[in-house]
Amino acid sequence: MTETPPEHLSEPLSLDPSCWSPQDIYYLNAALIVPRPIAWVSTLSSDGVSNISPHSYFNGISDDPPYVMFSIEGETDTYANLRDIPECTISFVTEDLASAMELSAVKFPSDEDEFEWADLEKLESECVRPARPKSAKACLECLVDRIIDVGNVNHMIILKVVHYHVSPEIWDKGRINMETYRPIGRLGGQYTKMGSRFKQRRPTWIEIRNANSTGVKQSVEVTSCD
Ligand SMILES: Cc1cc2nc3c(=O)[nH]c(=O)nc-3n(C[C@H](O)[C@H](O)[C@H](O)COP(=O)(O)O)c2cc1C
Repeated sequence: MTETPPEHLSEPLSLDPSCWSPQDIYYLNAALIVPRPIAWVSTLSSDGVSNISPHSYFNGISDDPPYVMFSIEGETDTYANLRDIPECTISFVTEDLASAMELSAVKFPSDEDEFEWADLEKLESECVRPARPKSAKACLECLVDRIIDVGNVNHMIILKVVHYHVSPEIWDKGRINMETYRPIGRLGGQYTKMGSRFKQRRPTWIEIRNANSTGVKQSVEVTSCD
């Protein structure tokens, strides 16, 4: 029997997920697994129509060589396109691109070019057929490695990254500059901008053991990055 989530908790929630509807589990996951990066995925249909849509069930999974994944719910245009042309670009969504990204999430008919509706200029990719949005500050060009069906309706797309594009304005001292990058993240049904940043120095096992032998509990040093 499907239960509805309680309005308030008088004791900790202890939940068998099969007791709630998939929609309520989505609300729970989407609020607990946060902040999520947003993959702005551009694909191309077999008829040559460009598509771009956001996917926040997204993450990196390997660096040697680089692979990423995202998950599609249902038989969307992105899914159909990846079955036909197994290539895509993934752009990262920064604050300045938030509204264009939202527009691109509208369920447009399959034969509509979402770059045009979201007012996005296209750039040709180096290694894949789908275009990439010119305004993105960072973009990956990817080849589909495999598609794994997960659960009743999801398709996990595992992608090999074959090319990176990074704009000079978010690059500093050989790394991405978090100050200028300004990615947004998905937070339940909301979004978040970058908050304050900090570093923690991770002690070694030897430090923890030495501190412990003198009766001291090793602490973690925290420094602000702002
Ligand atoms: C921020 C954001 C994140 C989203 N994440 C996902 C996701 O991870 N998986 C998914 O299937 N749909 C996700 N969606 C919904 C799709 O973007 C939406 O269904 C879109 O219309 C699919 O477009 P398409 O049919 O052109 O592929 C997300 C929407 C937004 C706004």
